[in-house]
Amino acid sequence: ALRGSFARKAQKPNQSSHHGLQLQASYKVAILGAAGGIGQPLALLIKMSPLISALNLYDIANVKGVAADLSHCNTPSQVLDFTGASELGNCLKGVNVVVIPAGVPRKPGMTRDDLFNINANIVKTLVEAVADNCPDAFIHVISNPVNSTVPIAAEVLKQKGVYDPKKLFGVTTLDVVRANTFVAEKKNLKLIDVDVPVIGGHAGITILPLLSKTKPSVRFSDEEVEQLTIRIQNAGTEVVEAKAGAGSATLSMAYAAARFIESSLRALDGDGDVYECSFVQSDLTDLPFFASRVKLGRKGIEAMIPSDLQGLSEYEEKALEALKPELKASIEKGIAFAQKQP
Ligand code: NAD
Ligand code: LMR
Repeated sequence: ALRGSFARKAQKPNQSSHHGLQLQASYKVAILGAAGGIGQPLALLIKMSPLISALNLYDIANVKGVAADLSHCNTPSQVLDFTGASELGNCLKGVNVVVIPAGVPRKPGMTRDDLFNINANIVKTLVEAVADNCPDAFIHVISNPVNSTVPIAAEVLKQKGVYDPKKLFGVTTLDVVRANTFVAEKKNLKLIDVDVPVIGGHAGITILPLLSKTKPSVRFSDEEVEQLTIRIQNAGTEVVEAKAGAGSATLSMAYAAARFIESSLRALDGDGDVYECSFVQSDLTDLPFFASRVKLGRKGIEAMIPSDLQGLSEYEEKALEALKPELKASIEKGIAFAQKQP
């Protein structure tokens, strides 16, 4: 199936894998920002993965208690805590997947770009350490604004001479999770069957759900397309407003990030049928980075799916053209930031 399967394919640690072999807990995952609103539930969800042997939790504070707590769960991974810059290198050594939810979240009235000044520096510093300590790892960037932090990460890796565009991912899984949920609700479909690709970027109108490509195939009225598209684009803001100053999406984000990690680990483990949407270096449009469905394999992105951008509805074609200037500006802002740093 051309879709992620976190939760659906969840297996017990002693259950046989698709190879008919015993699943080996063999991958190391690091979470940078692990004591935060996303980091904690994300760590809990992936502590349940039978594919993970080591879970390295890093933050600038409060991570000792989180790790002590989590380590009592009787699932395979060994949980270790790392606090502050002096322990970052050790946290990253030998790691296969690095997940970065470090940084400040939005409050009501803010755009994701308003987080740029603080989060750009955080992502830059963390990715420098990734380059120095685990340059072969898959890197999952969650910190906002994703449309700029991923280009920053790419520049940092280039400056360090270790950039592999097949292994750098902006996490947009939450947009897909939301689209699937909202479409299933609206059309009364079984949730487990619904899959909506979401392309573009991860902010406002740059988030473009391709409702015309929904699986199973569904008919939407023009009004439904408009309503659903806007709801998906504003879903982050919906949560920010509901939390009223206490942050942005954390639980649904942790769920989405866990799905993307699980997909990455399955790909690393040789599963040849893993597809996820992600914001990546891309030649599908004239923009250097773009979110679309990618096929994941042992070495990262194995293939782009150009056919996903063909046969779009008129509404989607227009929305795609309309999002490009904003997405381009956010990408360029990230690149310029990384290039002007000493
Ligand atoms: P939070 O404030 O609850 O947690 C952030 C954590 O990062 C804190 O524990 C903090 O100590 C840590 N941190 C700060 N500076 C750090 C550094 N230099 N190194 C390591 N850790 C550091 O915030 P949150 O709700 O977990 O959100 C984190 C980020 O994720 C925000 O930027 C938010 O906008 C973003 N986000 C992205 C998506 C997405 O779909 N990609 C969804 C939700 C949130
Ligand atoms: C989201 O989509 O929930 C995140 O990007 C957080 C935010 O600021 O909306």
